[in-house]
Amino acid sequence: MADLSINICGITSPNPFWLASGPPSNSGEQVMRAFDMGWGGAVWKTVGNPIVNVSSRLGAVGYAGSPVMGLNNIELITDRPLEVNFKEIYEVKKRYPDNAVVVSLMVESKDEWKDIIRRSEDTGADGLELNFGCPHGMCERGMGSAVGQEPDVLREITSWAREFATTPVIAKLTPNVTNILDPGIAAVEGGADAISLINTLKSIIGVDLKNLVIQPTVGIEGTQGGYCGPAVKPVALHMAGTLARDERITVPISGIGGISNWYDAAEFLALGSTSVQVCTAVMHYGYRIVEGMIDGLNNYLDEMGMKSVNDLIGRAVSTYVEWGDLDLNFGVNAKINSKTCIGCQLCYIACLDGGHQCIHTHQGPCSAFHGKADHGINPRTSIMPPVMHTDKNKSEAHIPFVDDDECIGCNLCQLVCPVPECVTMEEVPTAAGKESWNERLAKGLS
Ligand SMILES: Cc1cc2nc3c(=O)[nH]c(=O)nc-3n(C[C@H](O)[C@H](O)[C@H](O)COP(=O)(O)O)c2cc1C
Ligand code: SF4
Ligand code: SF4
Repeated sequence: MADLSINICGITSPNPFWLASGPPSNSGEQVMRAFDMGWGGAVWKTVGNPIVNVSSRLGAVGYAGSPVMGLNNIELITDRPLEVNFKEIYEVKKRYPDNAVVVSLMVESKDEWKDIIRRSEDTGADGLELNFGCPHGMCERGMGSAVGQEPDVLREITSWAREFATTPVIAKLTPNVTNILDPGIAAVEGGADAISLINTLKSIIGVDLKNLVIQPTVGIEGTQGGYCGPAVKPVALHMAGTLARDERITVPISGIGGISNWYDAAEFLALGSTSVQVCTAVMHYGYRIVEGMIDGLNNYLDEMGMKSVNDLIGRAVSTYVEWGDLDLNFGVNAKINSKTCIGCQLCYIACLDGGHQCIHTHQGPCSAFHGKADHGINPRTSIMPPVMHTDKNKSEAHIPFVDDDECIGCNLCQLVCPVPECVTMEEVPTAAGKESWNERLAKGLS
C-alpha cells in the first residue's frame, strides 16, 4: 500500500482528500463524522459576519441517469454565530490532531481580517483559506468573487492575511475570470502559501416553465448562483493545470471542482494539485465516498509502481502544452472491431453528420439511418443506443468500417460507441518527424 500522506504548505494530512468549504463542513459534529470515515482534512464552511440565508437555495441539472450532473447554489457564508463555529473548530482539532483543519474566512475591512484571523488561529486550526470566490450575494457586498476578480485587491487582502497570520494562508480563487493566471499570480505576490481552486461558476441553473421563474426559486423570484459538481470538472482541471505549469506560481495547489471519486482526484493530483477538495459529491452521496477514494487511489498507485502519492503529484503537468507546440505530423485512424460491434450505427451517423463522412457499411447507407429499421428506434432521434444485433442475428452487412484514407482521427466515433473498446484509435506511422505550428513559423513556413 502506498503512502497517501501529504504536506501542503506545511499543513499535513493523512491523505489528500479534504472536504471543501460548504454544507458538509458546516459543524463540528459533521467534520468529526467525516474524519471518522477517512477524510484527511476539512476546510470549514466560510466564517465571517454571520448572514441570513434564503430558502430554497439549491438547483440541479441531471444527465444520463444522474439527478446531479451540476449543482447550483445561492447559499452564502455561515449563518451560525462565530463563537459557536470557533468552539467547534477547537474541539475538532483537539480530538483529531492528525487531520488537517483549515478555517475559511471572508470579511471586509482590514481590522475585521485581523480580528477574525486571530480568533481562527486561537482554535488551533492548521491554516486559513481566504474565500475570494463566492459569486453570489457576498460579491454584491464587495467580498467573495468581487475580490477574486480584482487582482490588485486580492493581492492586498492576501498580504494583510499574511501579515496577521502565523499559520499558512491559502487563497481560494473564483473561476469567474478571463485568465486564472491574473488572480493566481496576484495571490503569490500577496504572500499566499498555497492556492485552492475553483470556487463556483456564476450561473442560472434553469427556468421553471410552469411558473415562469428562474431556479432555485425564492418565493416568486430567483437569482444567479454558483455552479459546481461533475459538470465543472473540466473547467477546474484546466484552471488548476494552468496554474501548475506556470513558473510564476511558486506555491502548491489544492484542486477543487467536480471531484466525485478516486479517478477524478488522481487527475487533479497528476495535473499538479497536492490536495483535493470535495463538496457536491459529498452532498449527493455522503461522507462514505472517501472509502472508495482511498482504496481506488491506493490500488492505482500500486499498479503504477508508485510508493507515495507524491510520486503522482504533477506527473502530467509537462504534457499540458500550447496548441502551437503540438505535433502536426502525428496521426491516428479509427478501427472498428467487427467481433464486438453490435451494428448500432451510432458511429456511422456521428461521422456522417458530425465527422468526416468516412464510416461505411457493406450494404451502403444503413437502413437505421433512414429511420426504417425494424428495431423501431431511429438513432437520429434517440440518445439511447439501439441494440440491433445479438450474436445470433448479427449481420456482417451492418458492421461499419472506416475508410482509412479519409479518416482524420477526430475520436468522435470512439466517443459515441456504446461498446467498450470496440472502436480504437491507432497511430498512423509517418516518416515525417515531429513538427509543430510554432516550429513551422520559426522556419518561416505556414
Ligand atoms: C451549497 C454550497 C455552499 C458552498 N459554500 C461555500 C463556502 O461557504 N465557502 C467556500 O469557499 N466555498 C463554498 N462552496 C464552494 C465549494 O467549496 C467548492 O469550491 C465548489 O462547490 C466546487 O467543488 P465541487 O464541485 O466538489 O462541489 C459551496 C458550494 C456549495 C454547493
Ligand atoms: S475518427 Fe472521426 S473521422 Fe475518423 S471515422 Fe471516426 S468519426 Fe470519422
Ligand atoms: S457505434 Fe460501435 S457498436 Fe455501434 S456500429 Fe459503431 S462500432 Fe459498432
